[in-house]
Amino acid sequence: MKKYMGILLLLTIFNSCNTLFETGKNNREMYRPGYHFSPKNGWMNDPNGMIYLDGTYHLFYQHNPDTIVWGPMHWGHATSKDLIHWEEQPVALFPDSLGTIFSGSAVIDINNTAGFGKDALIAVFTHHNHKIEEDKTGLHQYQSIAYSLDKGKSWTKYKGNPVLPNPGIWDFRDPKVMWHEVSGQWVMTLATKQSITFYGSKNLRKWTRLSEFGNNTGAHGGVWECPDLLCLPTPEGDKWVLLVSINPGGPNTGSATQYFVGDFDGTTFRTSQKDIRWMDYGPDNYAGVTFSNTGNRHILMGWMSNWAYANTVPASTWRSGMTIPRLLSLQKVNKNWFLVSNPVTEELVSIHKQQTGSLRVQKGTENWSKYISGSNGAFELSFTLDNVADFDLVLSNDKGDELLLGFDKGDNQFFVDRSKAGNTNFNPAFITRTVAPRFSEAGAINYRLLVDRNSVEVFADGGLSNLSSLFFIEEPFHLLNFKSLTDVNVQNLYVKVIR
Ligand code: FRU
Repeated sequence: MKKYMGILLLLTIFNSCNTLFETGKNNREMYRPGYHFSPKNGWMNDPNGMIYLDGTYHLFYQHNPDTIVWGPMHWGHATSKDLIHWEEQPVALFPDSLGTIFSGSAVIDINNTAGFGKDALIAVFTHHNHKIEEDKTGLHQYQSIAYSLDKGKSWTKYKGNPVLPNPGIWDFRDPKVMWHEVSGQWVMTLATKQSITFYGSKNLRKWTRLSEFGNNTGAHGGVWECPDLLCLPTPEGDKWVLLVSINPGGPNTGSATQYFVGDFDGTTFRTSQKDIRWMDYGPDNYAGVTFSNTGNRHILMGWMSNWAYANTVPASTWRSGMTIPRLLSLQKVNKNWFLVSNPVTEELVSIHKQQTGSLRVQKGTENWSKYISGSNGAFELSFTLDNVADFDLVLSNDKGDELLLGFDKGDNQFFVDRSKAGNTNFNPAFITRTVAPRFSEAGAINYRLLVDRNSVEVFADGGLSNLSSLFFIEEPFHLLNFKSLTDVNVQNLYVKVIR
């Protein structure tokens, strides 16, 4: 008997150790998103060099592999066939004698203009030299290139780097390069302090200044970073959109991305836009740029964080994720063209299970928990309200965490309130309630959200008003209540649990 008691005791100890280990493990992975990209280890910020090549999407990213705070920047690398399931690859670009590797882009050199080989994959990035930075001359950032002849597996830095030396501008970085067919040249869109400077090149190795934009236009609450220039079709012909991330000075404080709709002739970008427009009003979508080589599909992915608190968000062995990739398009509202972003639906469908329905909701609260049951906090939900009315969605769990989101008719604003959603006090700059104006003038509200354990991305009115927001809860939300101040018709309630 004594012997059995001993074995039982041992088993109990073993089991409790096991449980402890499991709990520890769960804790470590507690904030890991299910279907958004996050690095296995270390720190991540901006997406870099995103490109579609022979059926594979490549994502490179600002990466400090050694710790979970920003530090010496490398380009991490991940690949995906569908933009949702990512496979991490070995680090692509390491710091060298010219500096650490800041943000940039990648192109395919189909015509071998640079002379590294036909179809070479060429990365154009900023070298940031921390030593020169200390000299305060402002010459510490310059543009360099590297090429890969094996589809991004291995990289060789060009011996003639830098290809674009610094002319004396303190912030001189984040080159986004594209081939401009009409002018027959490569065009580099570069962030230069609080403006954008365009450069042109025939061979990616020698660059000429073309023009500058933005000194008297747009938001200037912080430094301009990570620009992108894209051409989007409209029924009135092609329009050019210039994306500019800015930090700080975003609409909900901290980092955010503004955009300008205009025209680009191969030399100059012009806009008649007078107002300031934000791509996403949420606090957690920064440095977003689009993939190269995706034809007419302009797919953007952003870093799901904010410099105001990014280095301090609750974390363990890795930090930060990316937003869901989004398709960009233009939509006209009241004579103005607005940038519209929506999740890459085709790709998401393949991993979704759906439930649909149409409901009449009485004034008051309806329990919608059944729709998200079994989701483990990873789902997409959408519906249309057939009139413009106040509503709240309340996501909660048994720990008492609550995320509040919805529409405020009086203010004509969509909102996300994370003040009661878990840990909010790790940094005073972690703004808790964020709002996005309603631009649509439609008589119905179309509302869509993606929840992935510790993040929510709202796409309202077909992607005209967006809010991306992180939160830090220890147990996934499994309860959902819909509240309205009036009787409303909810059409096409559509919930997809993401496995
Ligand atoms: C934007 C940014 C870029 C820079 C990179 C450094 O988040 O500041 O301007 O290249 O991060 O990691």
